[in-house]
Amino acid sequence: MSAPPLRYAVIGAGNISGTHLAAIATQPNVTLVGMSDPVDFAKWRDLGEYESVPKFNDPEKMLIETKPDLVSICTPNKFHAELSILALKHGVDVVCEKPMAMTLDEAQQMEAARAESGKLGGINFSYRNLASFRYARELIAEEELGKLLRVQCVYLQSFLGAPATPYAWRNNVDIAGFGALGDLGVHMIDGVRFVSGLDYKRVVGTAQTLIKEKADAEGKLHPITTDTNAAWLSELDGGVISTFETSQVAPGFGNFFRIEISGESGTLAIRSDFPEDIWLYAGKTVTRYATWATDLPKIKVPTGFIATNPSVTPAGIAQTLKGDSVDFPTFADGVHAQSVLTAIGESMKTNAWQTLG
Ligand SMILES: NC(=O)c1ccc[n+]([C@@H]2O[C@H](COP(=O)([O-])OP(=O)(O)OC[C@H]3O[C@@H](n4cnc5c(N)ncnc54)[C@H](O)[C@@H]3O)[C@@H](O)[C@H]2O)c1
Repeated sequence: MSAPPLRYAVIGAGNISGTHLAAIATQPNVTLVGMSDPVDFAKWRDLGEYESVPKFNDPEKMLIETKPDLVSICTPNKFHAELSILALKHGVDVVCEKPMAMTLDEAQQMEAARAESGKLGGINFSYRNLASFRYARELIAEEELGKLLRVQCVYLQSFLGAPATPYAWRNNVDIAGFGALGDLGVHMIDGVRFVSGLDYKRVVGTAQTLIKEKADAEGKLHPITTDTNAAWLSELDGGVISTFETSQVAPGFGNFFRIEISGESGTLAIRSDFPEDIWLYAGKTVTRYATWATDLPKIKVPTGFIATNPSVTPAGIAQTLKGDSVDFPTFADGVHAQSVLTAIGESMKTNAWQTLG
């Protein structure tokens, strides 16, 4: 007898839910049983192929009536903890968007609820799925760069600086928790740890709000209470110094996430907008001599490696639930990134390095 379909639901049906739904659509034998969002669905946007899926305004009602096995939490950050814990209490596996929570305490409560429920918890650190990020991780683990010496990470966007972009929840610290630091910085924190294999020993940072107010879609002005720019220094395992800079008001940058890592016998760089490329200058022979050209050759990630890339987090959890062994970012990874975010925030308040772990 064939296995019953995996019952899947979404809480928060905005922008990123489309990525979760598309990821789930790649999996066989999964049924989308419900979507929950406080909007008036009757007057909302065209939901296309999801028009006939049962819709709810109350997430608990949806969990009770549709009995999903797996739910994606795709709401603004403020609701991640409350809704993840609710779903876990209803015996549902959870994949939650990033940043995991508003505070470290909330993130720890989520992981405690997950552990108590015995269910799976994933955080959508989406860049972990990119072939280039995973290949870079493998090159470093195989010591192609030798002992690691330095890391530089930038994540720049322009959308918030554009007058045409209306005010939204992500500009309100009470709902978003953070600005660029939490929105993009959390990908940087997780990405550098994932690729380099190095953990954070201490951090110090600063942040700014370079745009003070913004008009909403109706033209009403609101103050921006989140950071638009942040920068921090980290000392990683082995004394490796890493620099980080993020901005949502950098004209000309769409979604520019770049990590560069040097070791004693090479340098590599990866960019989110070139997910199958890697800039690589490595190996004892090529690095024997100094180079004055300062350009890292761009190479392709081998196609055989690309084929081994795991699917994005919701699909990875669906595969795990079917018995496959799939590597996906967990709630524990979310708590870890949140602890680094919290330490950076603390360093801003105290003007001092914060030690982790
Ligand atoms: N992994 C990534 O790279 C990535 C990219 C974009 C967004 N995100 C994250 O996804 C989340 C959502 O971002 P978005 O861009 O989709 O925002 P969005 O504003 O497009 O969508 C959010 C949706 O949640 C709904 N919502 C609000 N409160 C709710 C509640 N209490 N219960 C249920 N639904 C509620 C809203 O009505 C809206 O439809 C954020 O946490 C964001 O950081 C992650």
